[in-house]
Amino acid sequence: MEKETVLVIDFGGQYNQLIARRVRECNVYSEVIPYTTPLEKILSYAPKGLIFTGGPASVYAEDAPLIDQRIFSLGIPILGICYGAQLMTYMLGGVIERAEKREYGKIDVRFDTTSAIFQGMDETSICVMSHTDYIRQPAEGFRIVASSDNCPAAAMENPAEKLYAVQFHPEVSHSVQGQMVIENFLVNVCNCNQDWTMDSFVDSTVQALRQKVGNGKVLLALSGGVDSSVAAALLSKAIGRQLTCVFVDTGLMRKNEGDEIEAVFGEGGSYALNFVRVNAAERYYAKLKGITEPEKKRKIIGEEFIRIFEEEAKKIGKVEFLAQGTIYPDVIESGLGKSAVIKSHHNVGGLPEYVDFQEIVEPLRLLFKDEVRKAGLELGLPEYLVYRQPFPGPGLGIRIIGEVNAEKVKIIQEADAIYREEVKNFGLDGKISQYFAALTNMRSVGVMGDERTYDYAVALRAVITSDFMTAEAARLPWELLEKVTNRIVNEVKYVNRVMYDCTTKPPATVEFE
Ligand code: XMP
Repeated sequence: MEKETVLVIDFGGQYNQLIARRVRECNVYSEVIPYTTPLEKILSYAPKGLIFTGGPASVYAEDAPLIDQRIFSLGIPILGICYGAQLMTYMLGGVIERAEKREYGKIDVRFDTTSAIFQGMDETSICVMSHTDYIRQPAEGFRIVASSDNCPAAAMENPAEKLYAVQFHPEVSHSVQGQMVIENFLVNVCNCNQDWTMDSFVDSTVQALRQKVGNGKVLLALSGGVDSSVAAALLSKAIGRQLTCVFVDTGLMRKNEGDEIEAVFGEGGSYALNFVRVNAAERYYAKLKGITEPEKKRKIIGEEFIRIFEEEAKKIGKVEFLAQGTIYPDVIESGLGKSAVIKSHHNVGGLPEYVDFQEIVEPLRLLFKDEVRKAGLELGLPEYLVYRQPFPGPGLGIRIIGEVNAEKVKIIQEADAIYREEVKNFGLDGKISQYFAALTNMRSVGVMGDERTYDYAVALRAVITSDFMTAEAARLPWELLEKVTNRIVNEVKYVNRVMYDCTTKPPATVEFE
């Protein structure tokens, strides 16, 4: 069955990924493509509809991004958003002007709910606007169907040509009924059936992978993170034992993590594949002995991974394909139109050069993160793997300040496991972006029974963030902090003090090194 596709045509706006996500949330498949895509290529998708995104340009600018004029007369429904709305107006003969004042923020917009894209909505609702140019006069054949105090033409329609334009941003969540606008466009204008689901994605990807790989061999570096785990499960479903996964247990993973990964992917696990576990803890600890400088530690951990992966790849010999857990945001961010830059593995930086392979396969390259998770559940991965919080490539190596050794790893694994268990018990697991325990390099005096102690201090970190570029410390309940502290000092040997890190990022980072 051909899947219904609605294409998001990218004019450089900041919310473009979001538009594709919103469309997919309506169970309609969507991809983002650059505005420079030739018309023939656009038609090859047989799109049920097109959405033009916003963008920073003015339609009158010399190098303004334009589009093939023929696109407006093909009978394919188009929804223009912000710049996309202005572009449609401009190219069809309407008038755009620079307003004296930029309209920005949450604005009350009045809707004509007889328009196909505003059906079922309130007559007035809050929408996000962000524009300087405005539509002074709609193009011929268009009727104004929404307005605000500063924006007389906040939306226009030409139903006969299936052309719709909105000045506001329906894709952002602050536009209260924005999702209805998108769904109305997909259903009432594009006649989409809304039958895109994760199981149909998994089935079609499995077919496509079988076709691409044929009888070839595929090699995947399995880190145990969400992306590589889902990629492994998907590839195993498609090609079974033609897949080899190399899992390097660095000895810098969380408590029991290595065994958990082996239980899922190793012999006797749920998947047919060749699973190679390399227990490299001793090797890592030997390399890290005496090293305290954070960047040097990171470098050593990364290089050691390359060496080990290289050794294992040599044993396997020639493979036709190297698999990568690249996901859609990576593809979009690495520049649309070009094929995605190979994701430098968090541990690596230039992974493929030393492996003898011909081609890359990226089974998740069209999925957003939460869709990767859905696919993982669909493929039978356990929830603790699918909902695992982000874990840095260098692992506990950058959560132990100063020299790393087996004893310190054990301390922080135990403390972190207690912390995670209690956060979960308090029902806060899904509410914090990332949280973990780190081992400070500080020792201090304490008293245990009648004995003086001189032991380590553990730092607890918990942050709330949407993009990890900036973050705030989570306001954890005092009872939780007290419980965790008590448990750690009682249950973890060589720890006599626990501290909570209240620092935002910046100036601190999320990790300690
Ligand atoms: P920072 O410490 O830079 O962390 O504020 C931001 C986010 O990035 C993760 N992180 C890493 N992830 N390899 C990774 O794969 C790394 O070397 C690395 N360093 C930091 C960190 O866990 C947080 O989510």
